[in-house]
Formats: sequence, C-alpha cells, structure tokens
Amino acid sequence: MTTMEEMRKKTVCQAAAEPPHWETDAEFDCLFRYFAEWEAPGLPLEIGAYYGWGDVVLVAALRARHELLQVPAEKLIALDPCERLGEIEGMKLDHHYTNFANWHEVLVRRGVWDWVLPVVATTEHAFEFLAQLRYRVIFVDGDHMQPSVDIDINLCRAALSPGGVALFHDCRDPARGCTLPAYDVLPAVEKLVEEDEWELLETVDTLRVVRRNPI
Ligand SMILES: C[S@@+](CC[C@H](N)C(=O)[O-])C[C@H]1O[C@@H](n2cnc3c(N)ncnc32)[C@H](O)[C@@H]1O
Repeated sequence: MTTMEEMRKKTVCQAAAEPPHWETDAEFDCLFRYFAEWEAPGLPLEIGAYYGWGDVVLVAALRARHELLQVPAEKLIALDPCERLGEIEGMKLDHHYTNFANWHEVLVRRGVWDWVLPVVATTEHAFEFLAQLRYRVIFVDGDHMQPSVDIDINLCRAALSPGGVALFHDCRDPARGCTLPAYDVLPAVEKLVEEDEWELLETVDTLRVVRRNPI
C-alpha cells in the first residue's frame, strides 16, 4: 500500500523534472502537504496557474487525499487570465504568462484535466464569483505587485474559512538570502500576520504559509 509520504515524494520528483515552473522542490513538497492533509471547511483554490505544473502537483495531492484519507473527490479551482498583463520588473517577459492552449495541453497530457475547474480571469475580474465560495486552502501565485496583491489578500479575507491556510509564493526575502528583485507580496504578508486573526505557520524558501485563526 502506497503511503502519503511515498506519493508526495514521487509527485515532487516528477514535477521537478517538468519545466516551466517557478517552484522549488521544497515548495512543491510543502504545497502537496497542505493540499493533501490540511483540514478546514471548503474547496482548494490556486491563483495563477501558468502552464499548470503547479496544478499537476496540487491535483496529485487531492487524489492522494481522496484515495488515502477517504475524503470525497474535489476539483481544484484554478485561476489564470491567460494573457500578458502589463510589465514585470520593467521588462516585457513572455515567460511570465501563458495562454489557455498551453495550460489545457499540460493538464490533458498529465491526466488531471477532469480534476481542475479552470477560471480564465484575473482575481479582480473573478472576485465576486470566487468570494461566493469558501476555501480550506489557497495557493496565491498570481500577479505579485500591488494592487493585485491587495486584491488576492482581500479574497483570502472574504473567502478563506476560519482554520484554512493561504500559501503565498514569491515572498522574496533578502533577510533569508534571496537576491532576486523584491515583489510586493512579502510586505503585504508580513503586515497580514501582524493581525490576531492571521498566523504564520511556516516559511519554505519563498513560500509563506498563513493560517486564518478561528475567532
Ligand atoms: C508565477 S506564475 C504562476 C506559476 C504557477 N503557480 C505554477 O505552479 O507554475 C504567475 C501567473 O499568474 C498569472 N496572473 C497574472 N496576473 C494575474 C491576476 N491579476 N490574477 C490572477 N492571475 C494572474 C499569470 O498569467 C501567470 O501565469
């Protein structure tokens, strides 16, 4: 019988070999753990799907959750505008966005299409729809500059269940040795966790795991 740990290690090993993606192996491992095992009411959500390699890991976690923990199967709601929006760090970089055909191709090729509910929109445009639902776990990896970061955090405030977790990617922190240009995610997350309702659970490379405490 395969264990959760074996499934996690196998998934991370496979995902690591599949470019393009931005997550480190340790970040994929952390994402798998929370999507598979974290208990709170609601659905799983990813903001910023890109080519869908994160989806492949997150769906593997949902499958493991279903098969090993006997939790009913649940689809991953995954969001991406699938178009180039503005500039990043002053440069127009084609590898910072994807289109729906690329995303769809990866999900079908890796057999996870049936496990994903794709939403082609920015968080801002889909806010009203997304905020009507409740989430147990949210992977936040969309636009990393303000005002989008504020919109993503507002969605967490509006729709993350008490006891749920939000995992914020690309919290580039010079204090942890990161030499890449700063994004607006880290200061926003640091401010959030100053509030009593929000608590930093762990940091894995540039991934910060934040829990919404029950009031
Ligand atoms: C860093 S990539 C995400 C990587 C992805 N999570 C993975 O695992 O490979 C950022 C993605 O966010 C999307 N994006 C950009 N602006 C967005 C917005 N306002 N709302 C949601 N997604 C956005 C981009 O299209 C891009 O595909």
